[in-house]
Amino acid sequence: MIVDVHLRPEDLDDKLREDARRGLTSEPKYLSPTWLYDARGSELFVEITRLPEYYPTRTEFALLRQHAADFADSVRPEMLVELGSGASEKTRVLLDALVPYLRTYVPQDVSEPALRSAVTRLSAEYPALSVHGVVGDFTDSLAHLPSGGTRAIAFLGGTIGNLVPADRAEFLTGTAGILRPGEWLLLGAGLVTDLDALLAAYDDAAGVTAEFDRNVLRVLNDRLGADFDPDRFVHRAVWDAENEWIEMRLEATEAMDVRIPGLDLEISFGEGEQIRTEISAKFRLAGLRQELADAGFVVRHEWVDPEARFVLLAAERR
Ligand code: SAH
Ligand code: AVI
Repeated sequence: MIVDVHLRPEDLDDKLREDARRGLTSEPKYLSPTWLYDARGSELFVEITRLPEYYPTRTEFALLRQHAADFADSVRPEMLVELGSGASEKTRVLLDALVPYLRTYVPQDVSEPALRSAVTRLSAEYPALSVHGVVGDFTDSLAHLPSGGTRAIAFLGGTIGNLVPADRAEFLTGTAGILRPGEWLLLGAGLVTDLDALLAAYDDAAGVTAEFDRNVLRVLNDRLGADFDPDRFVHRAVWDAENEWIEMRLEATEAMDVRIPGLDLEISFGEGEQIRTEISAKFRLAGLRQELADAGFVVRHEWVDPEARFVLLAAERR
């Protein structure tokens, strides 16, 4: 079992400072969803995946159960790299199907606690597999990922939708750039679907998503010494019909000033003012195919659930 740290806590703090300064001094205010995931945020995300309203995880799970063997037969990879792997829960289905070919599994995540616990569990469960974790940012160069044998990269859960379109294009091109012709990307993405189902998935009745959203304020308090009071912000989930994405936003319940000593900054909120904390884009198949083609991939398989809410695409590097 190996864990390489390509993003030390101090590098992560530098990125957070840069991002928070830019986003919180902008009009309207925004933050990158990456900051939702400290140890507590990663646990809250796992809780979200078990909610009745949050259909993406169980839908993708079912698609993986149905099609992992087809993927294994097409690709026969010796190494599986998973970006934004989190708890690596769904990955077991893939690993089981890939067992005849696979020698190494490389989970990569920005959340070191989530990554370490996944690496420990998977190493115990798959003793014949070399599990090589990487703490890193998938929006940085992926060049430092270990190489060896034919590789497949998995990017599951619909996390691709958390990138704004320009970053998404850069990410796909960068991913194609580190793959050799004949290597593959397995991409899970949410599809444009029924608005009520979408809004419920991002604003559940038990309030877990609201807690997850507010967690970003706790991260700013812990890492930058800020004095946000998370109880003075309410969670909102809003569908942006033009961009076809859900936005998570935190809305100030009253006017307030917040000090952020780590940025040497004080920011003001008006009553009702919002911070955008995440976008979660939903896709159309033709658009995704085009984006993958533009980046240098050919889509070989498209697996969609019966309600057409989620797609798993297996794309080969040209
Ligand atoms: N793939 C898992 C987890 C999805 S949650 C699933 O499908 O259930 C999104 C994951 O991406 C989290 O574990 C989070 O820590 C990670 N993440 C977010 N931004 C990241 C970044 N810039 N680089 C690497 N990992 C990131
Ligand atoms: C990780 N990512 C794909 C999740 C999503 O659905 O966009 C994060 C999330 N946000 C709210 N609930 C879940």
